[in-house]
Amino acid sequence: MKKLDEKSARSTEQKKATRDQSYRTHLAALEESGELVRFDKPVDPEKNMSAIEWKTYAELGKSSLFTNIEGHPGWRACSQIIADRKKWAIGLEIDEDHLHGEIGRRLQSPIASQLVDAASAPVKQLKFLGDDADLRDIPAAIVSERDSGRYIPSGIAFMKDPDTGIGNLSFHRMEVRGKDTTGFAILPRHASRIYEKYSQRGEPTPVAVVIGVHPAIWFASGYTTAFEVDELELAGGLLKEPVRTVRCETIDLNVPADAEIVLEGEIIPGNHLEAEGPFGEVTGTYPGKKMSHVFRLKAITRRHDAIYYALHCGFPVTDTQSTTGLGIEIATREHLQKVDGGLDLLDVRLLTISGLFAIVIKMRPRMEGEAKIALMAALSGPYQQPKLAIAVDEDIDVSDVRQIMWSIASRVRADRDVIFLPNVKVWALDSASPLVGNTGRQRVGTRWMIDATKGPLTEPAERVKFDMAMPKNFSSVNLRDFLP
Ligand SMILES: Cc1cc2nc3c(=O)[nH]c(=O)nc-3n(C[C@H](O)[C@H](O)[C@H](O)COP(=O)(O)O)c2cc1C
Repeated sequence: MKKLDEKSARSTEQKKATRDQSYRTHLAALEESGELVRFDKPVDPEKNMSAIEWKTYAELGKSSLFTNIEGHPGWRACSQIIADRKKWAIGLEIDEDHLHGEIGRRLQSPIASQLVDAASAPVKQLKFLGDDADLRDIPAAIVSERDSGRYIPSGIAFMKDPDTGIGNLSFHRMEVRGKDTTGFAILPRHASRIYEKYSQRGEPTPVAVVIGVHPAIWFASGYTTAFEVDELELAGGLLKEPVRTVRCETIDLNVPADAEIVLEGEIIPGNHLEAEGPFGEVTGTYPGKKMSHVFRLKAITRRHDAIYYALHCGFPVTDTQSTTGLGIEIATREHLQKVDGGLDLLDVRLLTISGLFAIVIKMRPRMEGEAKIALMAALSGPYQQPKLAIAVDEDIDVSDVRQIMWSIASRVRADRDVIFLPNVKVWALDSASPLVGNTGRQRVGTRWMIDATKGPLTEPAERVKFDMAMPKNFSSVNLRDFLP
């Protein structure tokens, strides 16, 4: 993918928005294709909603839609709606086998958003300003067992660089602390740079937290890009038309007109931090009590029948791992294309069951040692999360963890093929590795790699003994032809 810079992002011609840009079409498509379970029995966001949606995906592989939420009459909520590639393919309307290539292509053609009137913006159907706005109306859940309270983890923070006016989208979990206050967890990335700029001026950072959007907007928000790139334009590229936006009521920001809910407010300046957590993280564990920034609510606008996005963050597999995982796959693929004059790369798969730590590269090594340099590159790509990289051969199906494990068990000589890279910077949430410095966000640990490719073989007989002994006609027999 070519590098996205401000110029390419801004020089896009304006097209007209014509399609449904909410996530309702996605939910309907999931239901139609048997990928979603509708729960009409009462559920409780503090007691069981999270366990039900997690088990619905873990045990049945399906998304959830709740239509009867105790304490929140009239509300609905959905969860696990893009937890795997099939669901992403439905949401983005891209063939599952071409997800990486097609997303990569569309990200190269950003489209600027289009401002529409409030009258044609469903997210303005209801407005609660000032004292009328109450965060406790929203059916936010206690997600993981030891979470400190109800959390809204599914808000996309819309902010704007005060110097350039360029927008930024990012996720920041919000611990609901009452009617108009939440925690606001910011890791040091683009949002924190924007916050610093406002703070230096002694001003609060205006932020619009958008909940419930089209999967294209969701994906773009989680994608790692240059600071100068407005992710909303990437979302336009993914949608192949401009995102319809509408002005906020109380702050100078524009938000998707077809969203379900918008929380308008500001982050308190001057590095004002308060204790927050614990919260079940994307790693599948609790990093412990932390300090985080504080969000103050000014207004809520929403649809009259809003569907809350009850995003599950915590033990994998959830939408959280699958969002960052897909971004890592696409970015790593692009990164690896530049290694060694272009590798013979076949696929890249982030194992979401690992909570983002393990990445698999399927490739045809052209000479001894090439898989190992591919692995080194995969461990130093645009995303910090992977600490284990595994290379497998072209005969391994990377969507089947059994085959990956078989490959490790059968083709690896650990003394030669397992390599540790000690004392390197690792991801801030890798709590197995010690913290360094005093930010509480920097860690040094060991990244490691497993070369599970067969390696250079000279004797044809050797090649045979490394093959998988699969059932006769394994690839041509279609089980569905024989099922009752
Ligand atoms: C579902 C989800 C939840 C996330 N929650 C947080 C969070 O609470 N705090 C944070 O700093 N980053 C969180 N992240 C990571 C970043 O917000 C996200 O990757 C984003 O792309 C960063 O944007 P930026 O590079 O523009 O700052 C989350 C990512 C995902 C996919």
